[in-house]
Amino acid sequence: MEIKEYINQNKDRFIEELFSLIRIPSISSQSEHKGDMVKCANRWKELIIASGADKCEIMPTKGNPVVYGEKFLSKDYPTVMVYGHYDVMPVDPISEWKTKPFEPIVKDDYIWARGADDDKGQSFMQAKAFEYMVKSGKLKCNVKFMLEGEEEIGSGSLYDFCKENKELLKADIILVSDTGMIAADVPSITVGLRGLGYIEVKVTATKCDLHSGIYGGSVANPINVLCQMISQLTDENNHVTVPDFYKEVIELSADERKLMAKAPFSEKAYLEETGATELHGEKGYTTIERTGIRPSLDVCGIWGGYTEEGAKTIIPATASAKISFRLVPDQDYTVIIERVSNYIKKIAPSCVKVEVKPLHGGYSYVSPLDMPAYKAAEKAFTKTYGKQPIPTREGGSIPIVAGFERILGTKSILMGFGLGSDAIHSPNENYPLQQFFNGIETVSYFYEEYAQIMKK
Ligand code: BES
Ligand code: MN
Ligand code: MN
Repeated sequence: MEIKEYINQNKDRFIEELFSLIRIPSISSQSEHKGDMVKCANRWKELIIASGADKCEIMPTKGNPVVYGEKFLSKDYPTVMVYGHYDVMPVDPISEWKTKPFEPIVKDDYIWARGADDDKGQSFMQAKAFEYMVKSGKLKCNVKFMLEGEEEIGSGSLYDFCKENKELLKADIILVSDTGMIAADVPSITVGLRGLGYIEVKVTATKCDLHSGIYGGSVANPINVLCQMISQLTDENNHVTVPDFYKEVIELSADERKLMAKAPFSEKAYLEETGATELHGEKGYTTIERTGIRPSLDVCGIWGGYTEEGAKTIIPATASAKISFRLVPDQDYTVIIERVSNYIKKIAPSCVKVEVKPLHGGYSYVSPLDMPAYKAAEKAFTKTYGKQPIPTREGGSIPIVAGFERILGTKSILMGFGLGSDAIHSPNENYPLQQFFNGIETVSYFYEEYAQIMKK
């Protein structure tokens, strides 16, 4: 049976199986969901075995468990390790959701739920492509599955897990479906991911909140101070002002930039997707460059003082912010975290105490276009979409992908099927069924092409 027909005959089951994963609220950043992480890992284990793996285990780590499964066929076959994550982002602001985030539904040919794309929907396509290859007898690769439960919080435990299980995780290539494509009719292969640094800043001015009439104007207000400090992190050209922030950034040549500009970009779709009224970013660079090859700095959250109903006249004692920076080759997140932290402390006025706490970070990743897996993926996308995929560098991060290269010495091929309109990390996350089915189809072609190319 051909793959298209297999999908057609089994699609209701595929969706129901995916929904059984989505219904488990595996939010890694919230400790009340610890039990759900284990539940979700167990459900994955059942589904991987049912998909045709020889075995699958839940392996403990310092944090959330790893689901590891494998199918071994022949030592003459190449080994593909599928990586994905079963954890999801929190769902706030919950009032913005039109449906319940963990009660998935199909409406207008889209799946609506937290994790519909990132990454339950996408990693589940991997399981179903594998299932087809096994059941049809076409599989000529050994396959390993590794699903982690901490990607959305920085993959903290997975680095050590990789170091401790090098032999187990040995593979010729790591296959990841956790990125996007340019558009539903413009296939692309992600060849670059940004790195990341994340810090929390706390500014303290007084020992407690004070009456803003009695003391207003005579002691420092930490929110005012924090805002002034944050405003000094970027300039009028949206350039980051932290000394040496760009020092190691690799500048692309004019030719390379010209090549990048060839990728189609719709400003209208971009504005629609985001609801922004205009584009905004570092002067001198296009939008594709701003997210693909340039670092950025953003305040992800800021709080302090009185935020409940009505007015309360106080000078808050403290103010805090969470700040992230996206990094490109060759920026080292530990070095950049230090530079940003030092700068923040340096510009802090003496009237306040400033504490900076690093939360997590990761390196960027660039994948070569001349490796066998890229060629195989290119053929696979072309077969499904009828068009050659375009190599793109995406702004998001999957820090462990660089970790895989550093620790295991294995490169990754990023075959992602997400769309800009999927609202990942946002309310009303969704995933078009067509992308889900196309992904399963494309990944199954990848296995065939990759086995062919790697044949000894
Ligand atoms: N799947 C995303 C990363 C992504 C999305 C890459 C779209 C390219 C295109 C991943 O789950 C994610 O959100 N990663 C975090 C990493 C962080 C929490 C360490 C990110 O980018 O914020
Ligand atoms: Mn993801
Ligand atoms: Mn994510």
